[in-house]
Order: sequence, then structure tokens, then C-alpha cells
Amino acid sequence: MSPPLTNEPWDAHLIRYGMAFAPSLVAKARGTLLWDGEGREILDFTSGQMCATIGHNHPRIVAAIHEACEGALHLFSGMLSPPVVALSQRLAQMLPPHLSRALFLSTGGEANEAAIKLAKLQSGRYEIVGFTGAWHGMTSGAQSVNYVAGRQGYGPMMPGSLALPAPNAYHCPVRHCRDDCDGTCLEIGFDMIDAQSTGSLAALIAEPVESSGGVIVPPDFYWQKVKEQCEKRGMLLIFDEAQTAFGRLGCDFAFQHFATEPDILTLSKTLGGGLPLSATVISDETEATCHAKGFIHATSHVSDPLPAHVALAVLNVLEEEALNERALAMGKELTAGLRWLQEKHEIIGDVRGFGLLQGVELVKDRETRAPDAATGRAITARCMELGLSMNIVSVGQMAAIWRIAPPLTVSKAEIGRGIAIIDQAITEVLAKGLRAAAE
Ligand SMILES: Cc1ncc(COP(=O)(O)O)c(C=O)c1O
Repeated sequence: MSPPLTNEPWDAHLIRYGMAFAPSLVAKARGTLLWDGEGREILDFTSGQMCATIGHNHPRIVAAIHEACEGALHLFSGMLSPPVVALSQRLAQMLPPHLSRALFLSTGGEANEAAIKLAKLQSGRYEIVGFTGAWHGMTSGAQSVNYVAGRQGYGPMMPGSLALPAPNAYHCPVRHCRDDCDGTCLEIGFDMIDAQSTGSLAALIAEPVESSGGVIVPPDFYWQKVKEQCEKRGMLLIFDEAQTAFGRLGCDFAFQHFATEPDILTLSKTLGGGLPLSATVISDETEATCHAKGFIHATSHVSDPLPAHVALAVLNVLEEEALNERALAMGKELTAGLRWLQEKHEIIGDVRGFGLLQGVELVKDRETRAPDAATGRAITARCMELGLSMNIVSVGQMAAIWRIAPPLTVSKAEIGRGIAIIDQAITEVLAKGLRAAAE
């Protein structure tokens, strides 16, 4: 690792972009482990920023990068290369017949931006419905349908951005159910959409399992109902599978788990395994219509060969190492560990999710379910000191939910080690809080 050039604070010349920077510089990453500049080992329960699903620096990713260097890394946007063509064919083989044409970009935000533009161009309409708690990216169109954070201070969002309440069974958005969503929020939500719409509903965009919004797993019937509602209104259904595609939930795509196929699919994070790559996937029909209407979405890195080469390696590893099955098996270990923690520690109000995407909600009181954000932050910081990197996601100002998502290659021993660290961190932070209150 190149050392910093001066002794100034690390962030003296960097813009702060949201979350606090970690307390130490990270020098190396392999599999489920990171090492800081002093060689201290850190267990990674966030898969980097949810991208390193096959583990950090998987040897096949490293080999693919070397191979790409023998070919081409980047080309004129109008040029195609063998890895890009192969990746488009590979995705078409994995997906239902109507999801047959891909556009390869760099980030999830860009893929959603393209999906929204394609939906608007095809339909000739402009209203896009999203979900409260959703995160779709930082570009203007994608950000307009982010309802979890970051809306304030930038002036008007994209005209026609509307929101449905997320089916959060632990905190029912319409104060109707408790722990078991019966879909009433969806009915009320669509009544409100109809009341607000100017008659130009183009598409609905959703994460099949809302992740940054707190790992919200809808009931099994939910997406089928959403699709029916979309069809009734002539809207396209866009699934954003940035985090859920390629194994995390034990299947190639989360829409398979929910038995509901989208009209447009976006892929990102997990496709590149840590390299910036995203894809917007549509039907032949939508492609033909949008092309005829002059669709343009050329970026500097559209159809770049390097990330496509790496994505092919990621998909091979997923299959050869049977990572879908592994995610389910290790997910059961993780759930068992988290439920054990929940029995032991009153602060854990809810454990949810499956496969290797699980949420743990920290509360002041299990009856009121009021979030304990301050203690959650303190425990998260203590976990890091003890060698476990955890992401605390927040819904609103005060919520405290760990999104626990180690690489799919995580071992049973590593899950056990992570659970033991969380146990120690909770015990210590709560004991310290009690001592402070007594003094
Ligand atoms: C579901 C989902 N969609 C899209 C994005 C945006 O992806 P990117 O940060 O690569 O633009 C994210 C990022 O966290 C995400 O979680």
C-alpha cells in the first residue's frame, strides 16, 4: 500500500459523502477478511459495499483482470468486444425469454437511470412510482425515487416521482398489521397513487427485498399483487436487483423466489464482484420501440470489456462453487446465531431476512419498538474495534438496523466469530451504559 504523502488528517482533502469514514485505512482484502495498515484483521459482514459477493479479490477475478489486460480494457463506446457479447448472451440464457437485451453501464444508479428513461420512452408517459425506504442511486432520476434518505436540499426532484409505502411488517406503514403484512398498505398506497397521478403512470421501480430501507422482506404474495396493479394501469414493473441478484438470497435472481417476473431488470453491484459494472435488461420489443424513438444512453464506459470479462468470471464462480446453495446453508447458520443473540439481548427487537441478507433491528423497548440508534451506533463502533465490520442502515433519523451480508463464501467458523463479536460488543456497550447511568 502506498503510504499517505503527508501527516495531515486522512480526510483533509476529501469531500465527506454521507457515512463517517472508518477509523483505520484498509490495506488489503481477501475473501471475507480485510487488514488495516497495521495488519489488524477485520471480518467483513458488508461484502464491501454489497458488491464482493464471491469474496474480496477472488483468484478468478484477479485472473480475469490479468486476462483482460491481454485483450482490451476500454474502447470507443460504439465498439463491441467478445466479453461484452458473451456476457449479453450469458444473461439472456439465465433470464426469462422476454429479458433478452442488455445495456452495460458502470453503476447501479446509471442502470436505473437508463431503465427509467426506457420506460418513459416506450410508454410515452412520465410518472415513476417507487417505495418508501428505497435506494436506487445518486444520479438525478434514480435519486428521485430514493425515499430512504438524501431528498432534502437539492430543489425539485424529477417531476412525476410518486411513492408507495414499503410493506414493513415490523412497523406497519398504515398502522394496520403487526408482524404479518396482509397487503392493506399496498391497496391504500395504490389508491393514493391514483389520486395523485396526472394519468401518466409509466413504471414502478422496486427492490424485491428492500435493503438500505432496513431489509424489508415482503410477504410471498406481494410482488404478484404489485404486478397485477401495474398491469391494470399499463405500467411497467422494474426490479432493481443491485443487491439481490446472483446468490445472496439463494437464487440467481430474487424475482424467481417471489415468482414474479419484471418487465425491466437492473443489475449492478453483485455483477461486477467489486468492479464497477451494471446492466439494464429489457425485451426485444421495448428495445425496438425505444431504438425507433431515438433512445440514447452512451456513456464513457458503456460496453467496456474489462468489467464484462470479470462478470463472466463471477458468474462462473457462482455456478462452480454452488454459491446459491451455500448462501442458503450459511444463511441458516447466520439466522440461528442472530436468534440466539435475540434471546440473550433485549435490545434486539427483530431478526429478519434469509440467505445472506439479514436485518437486525435494535430497539429501546420490544413493545413500542422504538429504535435505539445511539446504542446501535456505539455497538457498531465496538464491533469494528473488536474486528468486525458491520453496516448500520437507517430509516428516518432514529432507526437502527444492521444489514448483515457477508460474502457468499463465508465459512461457518467466520459466522460464529462474527456472532461472538456482536455478543461481546452488545454486552460491553450495555454494561458501560448501565455504569454511566448509575454514576
Ligand atoms: C438497490 C440499489 N440500487 C441501486 C443502487 C445504486 O448503485 P450505485 O451506488 O452503484 O450507483 C444501490 C446502492 O446502494 C442499491 O442498493
